[in-house]
Amino acid sequence: MVSSCTLCPVLLNDLMTRKFYITTPIYYVNARPHIGHAYTTIACDTIARRHRMLGDDTFFLTGTDEHGQKIERAAETAAKSPQQYADEISGEFRGLWKRMGISNDDFIRTTEERHVKRAQELFKRIRDNGYIYKGTYTGQYCVSDELYVDGAQPGDPCPTCGRITETVHEENYFFKLSAFQDKLLELYANPDFIRPEARRNEVIAFVRSGLRDLSISRSTFSWGIPVPDDPKHVIYVWLDALANYITAIGFGSAHAGAQEAFKKYWPADVHMIGKEIVRFHCVYWPAFLLAAGLPLPKAIVAHGWLLFEENKMSKSRGNIVRTETILDVLGADALRYFLLREVVFGQDGSFSFDALVQRYNSDLANGIGNLASRTLTMINRYFSAEVPYPSHAAAKRPADEVVAQTAAKVIREFGELFDQFQFSRALEAVWGLIATVDKYIVENEPWSLGEKHDDESRARLATVLYTSAEALRIATALSYPVIPDATARIWQQLGLGDIKKLDLTRLAWGQLALGTKLGDVHPVFPRADKSAIERMQKMEDHQRAPIVEEARDSAPPATPAKPQPAASVPADAVATSNGKITIDDFAKVELRVGQIKVAERVPKSDKLLRLEIDIGIEVRQVLAGIVEAYAPETLVGRKVVIVANLAPRKMRGLESNGMIVAASLEGGKPVLASFLEDVPVGARLK
Ligand code: MSP
Repeated sequence: MVSSCTLCPVLLNDLMTRKFYITTPIYYVNARPHIGHAYTTIACDTIARRHRMLGDDTFFLTGTDEHGQKIERAAETAAKSPQQYADEISGEFRGLWKRMGISNDDFIRTTEERHVKRAQELFKRIRDNGYIYKGTYTGQYCVSDELYVDGAQPGDPCPTCGRITETVHEENYFFKLSAFQDKLLELYANPDFIRPEARRNEVIAFVRSGLRDLSISRSTFSWGIPVPDDPKHVIYVWLDALANYITAIGFGSAHAGAQEAFKKYWPADVHMIGKEIVRFHCVYWPAFLLAAGLPLPKAIVAHGWLLFEENKMSKSRGNIVRTETILDVLGADALRYFLLREVVFGQDGSFSFDALVQRYNSDLANGIGNLASRTLTMINRYFSAEVPYPSHAAAKRPADEVVAQTAAKVIREFGELFDQFQFSRALEAVWGLIATVDKYIVENEPWSLGEKHDDESRARLATVLYTSAEALRIATALSYPVIPDATARIWQQLGLGDIKKLDLTRLAWGQLALGTKLGDVHPVFPRADKSAIERMQKMEDHQRAPIVEEARDSAPPATPAKPQPAASVPADAVATSNGKITIDDFAKVELRVGQIKVAERVPKSDKLLRLEIDIGIEVRQVLAGIVEAYAPETLVGRKVVIVANLAPRKMRGLESNGMIVAASLEGGKPVLASFLEDVPVGARLK
């Protein structure tokens, strides 16, 4: 029996305040942040903001995933130490989130000591519970996804990203994943555990097909967390990364405060992820937690991809849109609103500057922005900036009641839809209310009523403006989590102070106090003209192609070509006085083994082929003037040498990112450099 008096306050507190813990995936530091990353972060930020407003004790975590072979190689390509490289890109993520006003409560980096120690603690727990053993792994590995590809043969592509897998043969620690098949299937019986339904079905099918034990350490490189008591091995980067969800809130710490935090916030209420990492989160992560004897997260929610020009936005495809461009031209709220309104959550959605500006103008500038400025300006003008009294019954009309009822319905619907992650529909409901009020204002013509001075017109005017302002207040309160900056300003203009202090659980029609003194009225969403699209496009083109040069690939050379290596030395590799370069100069040229995945002719060019070449860390688009020597179909699968650190160039409107090395023989056709032995993709030539 426990004496109740000491526990009472704690229990009461638990009953009164719910906790809410939400996480983003932690972002790899091999690529600078783009709007695909911003999408996940924005969705989580929006949910966290709503929960704070509902009074929940909310913890919102994000961070960066900094270990593993992929990062080690990316750092090498950038001629930096992995730590230096990780520091820079992690700093960019952190800086961008700050600039966007993201409300994360912590930012975890997997290279931080707190994470390293606690991740090792998790490994020990799993090992002490008997779920880890030593073995040898021989098989294929995708470095880009940091994924073991079961059943694949050398040369096979990764089923997730299509890049050619690498053969791995090394002594590893294995996790007894196979022991958890039944337990996992039981877990998936709860329909809320994996959302949406399609992803849940995918995971169930995968687990039903049988689980093999998983290698959870690597021993052929060192950029990772050493395995406790066996530092020749580093912990598999996915186990390291997934652990962030518990290490950040104090798991494995000896400090009482950290232990308390872990007890309070774990298990997570929502792990928000992109659909490509469902297996790691829905199969491996729960299995690791079960093995460690820890509680499981309540829900894993997978969203779709943001597409640009019909492909997943990603660094390797070179089709990313930087968030900063949109922030500079339209601001963070515009991007937040667009992504959550335009994309059906869970499905893929396309991004385009045209659609962004169109939405911005129709819903933000002409929608909530216009409703705010016209309503508040009229209250300023006709009622000396004080919320008017909606007057006596005689001035009421059924139309007023329609607005009030619509607002009450939208408050209910918005909450239900939002909590089911149906952000687009939730926003549609609020913008439905805005449209109803717009129509109401047009039909009741407050500007005409304002010109009349009889009592009845004055009373009617007060009712119309009160009704409009109250609907505006409700639309503003509901959309705060999505467009926090603009709604905070509208709230001030309504004379209501700090919007963050609003208790959303009590939001209802009729709470706008009569006589409230309005703040200064300023437009929150000025209209964007066509030049906004052009400006954003230009900013992005500029980023993508620092050197813009049209290929003169069909023009005859002015002088006969001399034999020369196709890979020219960069300008900063200065020759010494005797015409030789130093070894340091040579080291600046990054030559790598690449494998051609796609080869096709460039339209209207008689020399150029467009190649997609896997160079181990990513797939590059390279344009090569080799049409006369090679039919495109003969090149697919061939291993070639590419200069990987050449500045991108534009040819025939396409970006070429690197150069393929070939002997260029006088009067003859180019001959591609190749190898007699089998060499792994991505290997560096020194
Ligand atoms: N580091 C792993 C996650 C480890 S979590 C324990 C990883 N990182 S990532 O940087 O490649 O991707 C992280 C997330 O960014 C994706 O899951 C997804 O949420 C988001 N996105 C990256 N590109 C995206 C799009 N083009 N579209 C939508 N989301 C995208 O995977």
